[in-house]
Amino acid sequence: MTNTSSKAKHIRASFFHFFEDPNLESEAHQFIEDGILSVENGKVESLVPFEAFQIENPDAIFEDYSGKLIMPGFVDMHIHYPQTEMIAAHGEELLQWLNTYTFPTETKFKDKKHARKIADFFLKQLLKNGTTTALVFGTVHPQSVEAFFEAAEKMNLRMICGKVMMDRNAPEELLDTAESSYEESKKLIEKWHKKERLLYAVTPRFAITSSPEQLQKAGKLLKEFSDVYLHTHLSENKSEIEFTKSLFPECKNYLDVFQQANLLQKRSVFAHGIHLEENEWKQLQQHDCSLAFCPTSNLFLGSGLFNLQKAEELNIKVGLGTDVGAGTSFSILQTLNEAYKVTQLRKAYAENPSTIKPLSALKSFYLATLGGAKALHLDHVIGNFEEGKEADFVVIDWKATDLLKFRIENSSTFEEKLFALQIIGDDRVVEATYILGEKQNLD
Ligand code: GUN
Ligand code: ZN
Repeated sequence: MTNTSSKAKHIRASFFHFFEDPNLESEAHQFIEDGILSVENGKVESLVPFEAFQIENPDAIFEDYSGKLIMPGFVDMHIHYPQTEMIAAHGEELLQWLNTYTFPTETKFKDKKHARKIADFFLKQLLKNGTTTALVFGTVHPQSVEAFFEAAEKMNLRMICGKVMMDRNAPEELLDTAESSYEESKKLIEKWHKKERLLYAVTPRFAITSSPEQLQKAGKLLKEFSDVYLHTHLSENKSEIEFTKSLFPECKNYLDVFQQANLLQKRSVFAHGIHLEENEWKQLQQHDCSLAFCPTSNLFLGSGLFNLQKAEELNIKVGLGTDVGAGTSFSILQTLNEAYKVTQLRKAYAENPSTIKPLSALKSFYLATLGGAKALHLDHVIGNFEEGKEADFVVIDWKATDLLKFRIENSSTFEEKLFALQIIGDDRVVEATYILGEKQNLD
C-alpha cells in the first residue's frame, strides 16, 4: 500500500469499538479508558492498556490524545457525491426534488474537471466528519466515477463508487442506453474494482429510470464480476412506488423489479426501504441483502420512517446513510441524532407503542462502525481495532463545544456520554481523522 509508514507508531487515548452487535451480545464492545493503539504498515498491530504497553516499551514515543476518544472511522452506506453542491434545496418530495434540483446539478458532471473539484471537496467533507468509508453514487457520466476514484486513490481511501445507469424518465443529457451503460460500467470495473482500496458498485439509479433491458444488463455485470456491489434506491416514497408499479405491471412489487433482473445478492445495498411489503422484507432476508437507513434524508423529503426494529428482527444487515444531498448533513453523528428521533416518532404511529424500542447509544455507534462494515461485507478489513484491520480511525474531542463539554461533565456513565455525543455532536467534535494510521491534513 502506498504512503504508509513501515515503522510502528503508537497512539494514546481512550478507545471504543465493537466485536459484535450489542443487541445480540452483552459483551459486544470494548472501552479502554487509557490505551495504546499500535499501527504498522497502515494496519492495527495491537490495542492494549497504556500501563501494560509502558512496562514492555518504556522508551516508546507515542502521539498523545489523552482525554480524547478514538473510534474506528465511520461508515456511510449511501451518499451522492455529485449532490454536494445542492444540499439543502427547499420544499419538495422525492420526484419533484429530483427534477427541480438534482438532475440539473448532475448534468455538470459531464465536465471531468468539475467532477474532480467536487470529488476533492466531498472527500474532505467526509474526513472532516470522521467518515472513512462510503458507498457513493456518481452520475451517469463515466468520467464522474473516474474523477472520484482518482481523488480517493490519491488519498488512500477505502471507497466504493459506481456510474449511474439510467436510460429513461430523466432529461435527455442524463440518459445512457442499456448497452452503453453495460459497456461503460464494465470498463470502470476492469479499471478500478479492487485497485488499492477501491471497489465498484453497479448502480442503476432506481426502478423508474431504468428499462427492463438495462436492469438485465446490470444483472449480467453482477454475474460476470461476482464480487462487485449492487447499489440502488428502493421503496422510498409513495408516488415513486406507484410510478414503479405502473412501469413494471408484470412485477409483484417494487423489489420484484430488481429480483427479476437477478440483482438480489449479498453485496446488494438498497437505500431507504421505508414502505416495504411483507414479501419484500422476506426477499431481502432470503438473499442476505443490506439496507441503508438514511434518516436525515427521509425526514427532509418527508419520505417516511424506516423500521429499523423490523430489519433487526429479520436479521437484515443495516448501515447508516447520510444520502447527501437529500440528506442534510455529512455527519454520521447528526445522522444518528435523526435516527434516534425516527425510532421515537414511530411510537406515535404504532398500534402498540410499548413494543417500539428506541435506538440505544451502543447500537447507534455499532451501526456507524462495525455494523456498517458488516452490511458492506468489509468487516474483515475495517470496522474495529482487531489486529490486522486497516487503521482508519477518528479522534473525538468531548470538549469541542461548550455545550457538549458541560453535558459530558454532567454524565455519569459512558453510555450517557455517547448518547449526548450522538445528539449534540457534529463535525466540530472531530479533532482528527487517520487513514491507514496517517493523520489527514484537512485544511
Ligand atoms: N431516488 C432516485 N434518485 C435518488 C436520489 O438522487 N436521491 C434520493 N434520495 N432518492 C433517489
Ligand atoms: Zn440516495
